[in-house]
Amino acid sequence: MPVITFANTKGGAGKTTAVLLLSTELARRGYRVTILDADPQHWISHWYEISGHVPNISVIDFVTSASLPVHLSENSGTDYFILDLPGARTPLLATALGLSDHVLIPIQGCAMDARGGAQVLELLQYLEQRAGIHINHSVVLTRVNSMVTTRALQTVKALLSERSVTVLETPIIERSAFRDIFDCGGTLYTMDPNRVSNLDKAQENARVFAEEMMRLLPVRLTASARGAGHDAIRSAA
Ligand SMILES: Nc1ncnc2c1ncn2[C@@H]1O[C@H](COP(=O)(O)OP(=O)(O)OP(=O)(O)O)[C@@H](O)[C@H]1O
Ligand SMILES: [Mg+2]
Repeated sequence: MPVITFANTKGGAGKTTAVLLLSTELARRGYRVTILDADPQHWISHWYEISGHVPNISVIDFVTSASLPVHLSENSGTDYFILDLPGARTPLLATALGLSDHVLIPIQGCAMDARGGAQVLELLQYLEQRAGIHINHSVVLTRVNSMVTTRALQTVKALLSERSVTVLETPIIERSAFRDIFDCGGTLYTMDPNRVSNLDKAQENARVFAEEMMRLLPVRLTASARGAGHDAIRSAA
């Protein structure tokens, strides 16, 4: 049961949006996902409330550094835990990093001013050097303009490679679907393609992003979950 944490102490980097995209895509494939909502804005919990039942997803709200280890141990039937952290430096950050199998640091477009991302990277480095705790982590580019994907990726990759930081191959593109989903609830597959522009591209982006994460952190599906996932993919196709 891998724990994937989205962390960037700068607000508005795209953590919550990426959490929702990854979670709904993994759930569509039949994985049981528990989202741990520690964002003081509670966007995921609100989305869950207005969505009704979303197969394979459960959401735990008001996660704190004291409650986090309890949630992890009490939900052993989960395939993936996905943690949405606040966009500020809080006591939860270090606890969460220490309990994570992979930390994803969303950074918008260009990394030049990504100070919040750098703070997380520094804390990870500190844990490694001082405590000998190595936590896998990568940067994911968010809100990337679909026209400049390649150039933005190259620039940021070059900057971060000096610090030996991996950047995911898949950037998260700026798409209206990724905003609208929080207003209308449900998933990218329950939205109306006639009312949401480039919904197919948004779906493709979320799919490729989740596939990259699954390659990094594979889990084996149980037979029943595999069946459910295939059904979901078939009905969405
Ligand atoms: N890929 C995207 N496409 C379109 N809009 C996006 C995208 N990513 C984020 N946004 C928008 O940017 C704003 C901030 O995004 P989000 O809430 O995901 O960031 P956050 O890092 O969780 O913020 P906070 O630190 O405040 O919790 C939101 O209005 C969201 O709808
Ligand atoms: Mg957030």
